[in-house]
Amino acid sequence: MNLKIAVLSGDGIGPEVILQAKKALYAISVAYDHEFIFEDALIGATAIDKTRNPLPEQTLNLCLNTDAVLFGAIGNPKYDNNPDAKVRPEQGLLKLRKELGLYANIRPIKPFKNLLDASPIKREVIENVDFVIYRELTGGSYYGEKIVNEEGTFASDICEYSENEINRITHQAFKAAQSRRKKVTLVDKANVLETSRLWRKIVKKIALQYPDVMLECQYIDNVAMQIITDPKQFDIILTENLFGDILSDEACAIMGSIGLMASASIGNNNALFEPIHGSYPRAKGKNIANPIASILSAAMLLEHFGLEKEAKKVYEAVEKAIEYKVVTIDLNPGSRFGTNDVGDFISNVILSKDDLYFK
Ligand code: IPM
Ligand code: MN
Repeated sequence: MNLKIAVLSGDGIGPEVILQAKKALYAISVAYDHEFIFEDALIGATAIDKTRNPLPEQTLNLCLNTDAVLFGAIGNPKYDNNPDAKVRPEQGLLKLRKELGLYANIRPIKPFKNLLDASPIKREVIENVDFVIYRELTGGSYYGEKIVNEEGTFASDICEYSENEINRITHQAFKAAQSRRKKVTLVDKANVLETSRLWRKIVKKIALQYPDVMLECQYIDNVAMQIITDPKQFDIILTENLFGDILSDEACAIMGSIGLMASASIGNNNALFEPIHGSYPRAKGKNIANPIASILSAAMLLEHFGLEKEAKKVYEAVEKAIEYKVVTIDLNPGSRFGTNDVGDFISNVILSKDDLYFK
């Protein structure tokens, strides 16, 4: 298969971890005879520094004209500490999601067998956990009207959803459930929010078209607790933008490190793959960031294009790195392995050269 992939490494540790994902994809292309063409482009704080625009036109055009986008991380503390900054790195990612129509953000949570003790949650609670968060990505309070008064004493972020926006991700979530354990949990705050009541009404109606899938509706506050106390109950979690953002970081506690969680953002014509962690500015350039989330995002890219065998190979190579403890310090505090070593190991396993590594 020929794929043209836009690579938006972004800020902080983005370039280091994305380099490892590229190595893994390159290894796959060699091992399975595919051709992947990578093209780099600017986004985020790095793009602001060079062009004053967090999403330069050139980057957007590239993304619109490639098969997929591989995305690193975004953010720089110099903007976080300046509440008056008008241009922010995050705007680049938010605009890109909107322009590419990436309405479904898919975040799988399935702890690795050899990392069950890396989680602060008891082993018996997280063993066999396997669920996927379907987070709506182009609506809600992220995109509603934003108001700040002149005196800076009042602000508002409007949360809005239309039927169409709810429809499309709901169908994706139910279809995914059909090939899994056939359960969708809609997470909302329907006891308080109108938008949540709209979600419930529409999702219940769509559920009738999927009689083999069970729908359950739960409140966000309760689910925030259940994700920690009884995460095995979940199969597909379907939720709006902000709730999904929060729950997916929380779910990292099950995985043992935020450096392990990948995501796919899918639209009708475009797809973007990114680790869910941020730019981790303190680790930039230190070769200590965990590249596994980026490598698994590359695996999700392969899966998206129907390259199941190849995606599985990447996943297995990651499992092997974990089994052999070729991991970064977030997973093994005394580890002598850095970002590059983990990436090299994984691409060598893909090329079936892992035995060489230990010679
Ligand atoms: C994520 C991130 C982004 C979000 C930020 C960087 C804008 O936290 O992808 O989860 O809130 O969506
Ligand atoms: Mn987030």
